[in-house]
Amino acid sequence: MKKTTDSLTCNTALVSGAGRGIGRAIALALAREGMRLALTARSRDQLEQTAARIRADTGRNALVLPCDLRKPAEIADLAREVSDAFAGCVDVLVNNAGVFFEAPVEETALEQWDAVFEVNLTAPFLLTRAFLPRMKSRRRGWIVNVASTSALSGYLHQAAYCAAKHGLLGFSRSLALECRPRGVRVHAVCPGGVDTDFIAGSHVAERIKGQAVLEPENIADLVVFLLRQPPNVDYPEVVVKRFQD
Ligand SMILES: NC(=O)c1ccc[n+]([C@@H]2O[C@H](COP(=O)([O-])OP(=O)(O)OC[C@H]3O[C@@H](n4cnc5c(N)ncnc54)[C@H](OP(=O)(O)O)[C@@H]3O)[C@@H](O)[C@H]2O)c1
Repeated sequence: MKKTTDSLTCNTALVSGAGRGIGRAIALALAREGMRLALTARSRDQLEQTAARIRADTGRNALVLPCDLRKPAEIADLAREVSDAFAGCVDVLVNNAGVFFEAPVEETALEQWDAVFEVNLTAPFLLTRAFLPRMKSRRRGWIVNVASTSALSGYLHQAAYCAAKHGLLGFSRSLALECRPRGVRVHAVCPGGVDTDFIAGSHVAERIKGQAVLEPENIADLVVFLLRQPPNVDYPEVVVKRFQD
């Protein structure tokens, strides 16, 4: 049986939400595979901590580029800076940044709905749109969208979050059709609960307290696995849950 390729063929990546949690684990894993990394989120401190971990592990510097992904103008600046730093050759875009929101629909303000959509869905669209033309012209690129099992099911009092993540999965599915003939791969990763601060203080956190969840490294390992696939193999969407669920 043929095995997956041993080393990654991609060299550069932008990881959003790389300051903590799943994004940090993905950034570290890709850096350990030898990739050059650009890291974004709002908190410069957290990004610097991720960059310091990368430096300690690999001896290489990662680019730290703070950006509020709710602001299209900042996204445009970010895309320009990353492209310049990597001479236009951004191989991998990991749309990982996300926000959780929990409330009954009638208690959800339009501003809250918009905030959830801007980070979880519009930012991946804008970042993809920024990097896609070059990926297509180079016939080389990987777009990894970190969705959720909330992209596949409804959960109580998570209408905005579930709608945005369903949207991200739909976006990924359609994007994959556009990209496939141009040699660009699109992966939607749909994790169940992961041990991060993402849902801290929420009712759902209270409900699942004490239950085993996935580790951020489980998702990072999956992303490396996806990027390692040989040209004839594709995993367009992957659900990853703890075994017991
Ligand atoms: N944890 C889970 O159980 C779980 C399950 C399924 C899917 N996911 C998905 O996995 C992804 C990562 O989640 P996580 O658990 O690692 O959460 P996390 O620990 O809260 O990290 C979220 C990241 O997104 C960034 N972010 C949030 N709002 C932003 C904004 N406006 N602009 C730029 N960056 C922003 C945060 O940085 P700043 O706050 O500094 O901006 C942070 O780096 C999310 O898309 C989430 O939906 C998580």
